Amino acid sequence: MIKISPSILSADFAHLGRDIEAISTADYVHVDVMDGMFVPSISFGMPVIESIRPCTGMIFDVHMMVVDPERYIEVVKKSGADIISIHVEACKNIIDTLLRIRELGAKPALAINPETPMETLRPYLQYVDEVVVMSVHPGFGGQSFIEESFERICELDRMRKDLGLSFAIEVDGGIKLDNVEKVLKCGADIIVAGSAVFKD
Ligand code: DX5
Ligand code: ZN
Repeated sequence: MIKISPSILSADFAHLGRDIEAISTADYVHVDVMDGMFVPSISFGMPVIESIRPCTGMIFDVHMMVVDPERYIEVVKKSGADIISIHVEACKNIIDTLLRIRELGAKPALAINPETPMETLRPYLQYVDEVVVMSVHPGFGGQSFIEESFERICELDRMRKDLGLSFAIEVDGGIKLDNVEKVLKCGADIIVAGSAVFKD
């Protein structure tokens, strides 16, 4: 089953509760946490996740664009995360962190930037429930989909089959009505959409 994860980065922060109610037919809520170090921008963190948690029973899919995310996974889980994705480029103890996320009762996921070779993921794939393939450079909503991402999604889908694993492939960035079909054909299971949901 294909899942949709609207990114509230493109929501109206003055009316977050209202905007979350408006997406109640989706599957997940994609929550982009940025630290101003791993990515140039700063978005929001734990207090905001905690505030919006009572607004919905939907699954919170928290995308940590944060250096050394292991510092925060416990408090992010406590604030209401159901899925926690950490970046393969940002974490020193990837396996330990993924195991810890699972131990805390959340689903572990690994996110990967457009320029990082897919093979980097191989040693960690057995520990994840999801891989988040970035199809834009992380940091901002509303960017254009990077075309090379189609081949990268296909490559990950092939790795998944070769390894006999069943993690979900989530694709994040620049997905609109005119490219979503091709993204799904490459093997994506979860579609993140920010501006397409809240701005178009
Ligand atoms: C980018 C974020 C994305 C972003 C997607 O750093 O990780 O989740 O909000 O927004 P759109 O769909 O507008 O590219
Ligand atoms: Zn994201």
